[in-house]
Amino acid sequence: MKPSNLVAIKGLSHLLQLLTCILLLTPSFSKGDRKIYIVYMGKYPKDMEITDSFHTSMVQSVLPRKNGVVSVIPNRIYNVETSRSWDFLNFPENVPRTNLESDIIVGVLDTGIWTNSSSFSDEGFGPPPQKWKGTCNNFTCNNKVIGAKYFCIGGNFEPEDIISPTDTTGHGSHYTSIAAGNPVPNANLFGLGLGTARGGVPSACIAVYKVCWTSGCRTADILAAFDAAIADGVDIISISVGSAGHRK
Ligand SMILES: *[C@@H]1O[C@H](CO)[C@@H](O)[C@H](O)[C@H]1NC(C)=O
Ligand SMILES: *[C@@H]1O[C@H](CO)[C@@H](O)[C@H](O)[C@H]1NC(C)=O
Repeated sequence: MKPSNLVAIKGLSHLLQLLTCILLLTPSFSKGDRKIYIVYMGKYPKDMEITDSFHTSMVQSVLPRKNGVVSVIPNRIYNVETSRSWDFLNFPENVPRTNLESDIIVGVLDTGIWTNSSSFSDEGFGPPPQKWKGTCNNFTCNNKVIGAKYFCIGGNFEPEDIISPTDTTGHGSHYTSIAAGNPVPNANLFGLGLGTARGGVPSACIAVYKVCWTSGCRTADILAAFDAAIADGVDIISISVGSAGHRK
C-alpha cells in the first residue's frame, strides 16, 4: 500500500525512445515446455520498415548465434498491487484545475475495468479527443472509457478468465478510479471510509489495457500493451504491478 506503487509515467517521448526497439518473442523448447523470452535488440535503425519477411530473417539470424542482442528477458509473472489516496499525497479535491485535463488520456495496464461503476460514467463527457487512435476490442466503451484492449500472448487462460477487457477481480477498476475516476460522493464500505472517491485527474479519459489474468501479469503482455498504448496516443501510462520478489 505504498503511494509509490501507483506509477504514472509522464513524458512519453522518453518512453518512446526506450521502447523504439526490436522486440522478439522467441520460443525455446525444453522437455516439451514452450517458454517466451523477450529479446531486446536495441533501437530501430532509422527509417526501417518492419515486414513479415524482415521479422522472419531477423529471428533466423538471432536464434543460432544471438548476434546483435542487447539483452534477453524471461517472460515472468507479476502480481497486481494498489495505492493510497490523493489526499495522502497532499493533492486535495479542491486543487485548481485546467481545461486541458479533459484532453488527457490515461492508459492503464491492469486486470481490466467495470464500466458499470459510477467512477467511469461518461455523463458530461464529450467525444474522445481527436488525437485518439485506439479501439475497443470485444468491449463496449463510452465517452469516459474510450479504449479497451486485452493481451494474452501464449493464451494462458484459466476457466475464471473473461476473454475481453472486462475486469474479473476489481483491482483494475479500483486502481483506474484512483488514477482518473470521476468523483463519487458517499463511497464507503459498510459505513467505513465514508467520503468522495476520486481520481487524480477526474476529467481525463481512460484507455484500458488488460494484461493481468487469473494467473498473473506477464512481461510480454505488459510490453505489448505499452507498445499499443503509445501507438493509440495515450498521454500517461499507469501500471501498478509487482513481482513477489520485491515485496519481501
Ligand atoms: C459491475 O459489474 C461487476 C461484474 O458483473 C459486478 O461485480 C459489480 O458489482 C458491478 N458494479 C456496480 C457498481 O454495479
Ligand atoms: C468476448 O468476450 C466474452 C465475454 O465478455 C467472451 O466470452 C468471448 O470469448 C470473447 N470473444 C473473443 C473473440 O475474444
